[in-house]
Amino acid sequence: MIRIKLGVVVSVLALAIITFVFPPYVTVNASEDQKTLKEKQVGYGRGGRVQAGSPSEHAKEAIQPIPLSFDYDRAKVELGKKLFFEPRLSKSGWISCNSCHNLSTGGADNLPSSIGHKWFLGPINSPTVLNSKFNLAQFWDGRAKDLQEQAGGPIANPLEMASNHELAINILQSIPQYVQWFEEVYGGKELYGSGKIDILKVTDAIAAFEETLTTPGSRFDQWLNGYGDAITDSEKEGYELFKTKGCITCHNGMGVGGNSYQKFGLAKPYDKDPHTQGRYDVTKEEKDKFVFKVPLLRNIELTAPYFHDASTWDLSEAVNVMTEYQLGISLSNEENEKIVAFLKTLTGEQPQIVLPILPPSTKATPQPNRN
Ligand code: HEC
Ligand code: HEC
Repeated sequence: MIRIKLGVVVSVLALAIITFVFPPYVTVNASEDQKTLKEKQVGYGRGGRVQAGSPSEHAKEAIQPIPLSFDYDRAKVELGKKLFFEPRLSKSGWISCNSCHNLSTGGADNLPSSIGHKWFLGPINSPTVLNSKFNLAQFWDGRAKDLQEQAGGPIANPLEMASNHELAINILQSIPQYVQWFEEVYGGKELYGSGKIDILKVTDAIAAFEETLTTPGSRFDQWLNGYGDAITDSEKEGYELFKTKGCITCHNGMGVGGNSYQKFGLAKPYDKDPHTQGRYDVTKEEKDKFVFKVPLLRNIELTAPYFHDASTWDLSEAVNVMTEYQLGISLSNEENEKIVAFLKTLTGEQPQIVLPILPPSTKATPQPNRN
């Protein structure tokens, strides 16, 4: 009895603390009060410590709510935000991370495949950067172990930003304001060495910014947190179907995906794209042919087209592809509609970004090259 009462008291207290002490969302542009609270990095990756959501009867579901707030290293995140929007990290001086991971459109470019340097059409659909910290590794085939390792890739990828790390660093180093910002964030810290800007600092800052790009507060998370009315009856039925039909075995956890590798075409070979072989390209093991990182389904409504080969623009068609190729079953139209309705409850609060103002180039800054 006492234990139960204690549990209730703790829950109420926790709820009160979460509601009143911690603001609902800590955005990159927190108010003065929030800043002092959040300024210290407390050690959850680069981004800070995760605050627990409120306890509820749905706490044991296989999908967990995204924490409402977290601590972060504000100066580092601000620097990372500038770099995320910095087109001078590309050879043409025109393409930034945000070109293909547009934070106005769900953190993706909503194209079948990305457009890179000199209008190169990339080989694969760009995944969203939103909630990417919940991925067990980065890229469709998981070839980058984390966000920092990933961030070095596109800068030097000839089909994407087409620069190289040396050039990108030279550009940043030629701009006194960047030198000062890097010094403020990394100067004197042994881990990072001191003095010059280097690619590890650049990718660390970008990763810190990306870690703040979570989308808490979706209607589904509100329901998980105990607000029974946050989703409708048919959305609830959609969630039940998502569980009973088996979607949840692959799409679960905080990101509703992102935490395992699975074969695309488990029940029936997926023949629409025989060329992209997924994890096989990383491991060269036969069992990894057509195995991909299970994508996050958070904000899925915002990031059409779907699948690594962008084979459909329609979410209900995507659900049918999954039932056919992954589960070997078919759904009635009504069941399909309910699952789609459930998926749309996963759209959360989008990060509130104030567009960063980037410092001007100097005479020493290498000029853009469009060739
Ligand atoms: C020209 C378009 C383009 C640019 C520019 C670009 N990306 Fe990407 N990004 C992609 C594509 C396409 C993929 C998927 C590639 C793959 O999986 O093989 C991707 C994958 C990612 C992923 C992995 C997400 C996941 O779910 O696996 C992250 C994170 C990411 N990019 C961040 C960045 C950052 C940071 C920058 C800037 C330094 C950047 N991207 C620049 C197109 C781009
Ligand atoms: C056996 C594991 C597995 C099961 C079961 C499964 N999925 Fe998937 N799902 C995946 C993988 C892997 C992909 C990525 C396929 C690709 O594009 O290469 C994916 C992709 C998706 C996508 C597209 C995501 C995007 O960003 O392009 C949606 C939507 C989706 N699944 C929904 C569902 C639904 C709904 C169910 C149940 C009917 C389901 N999945 C069952 C593994 C699974």
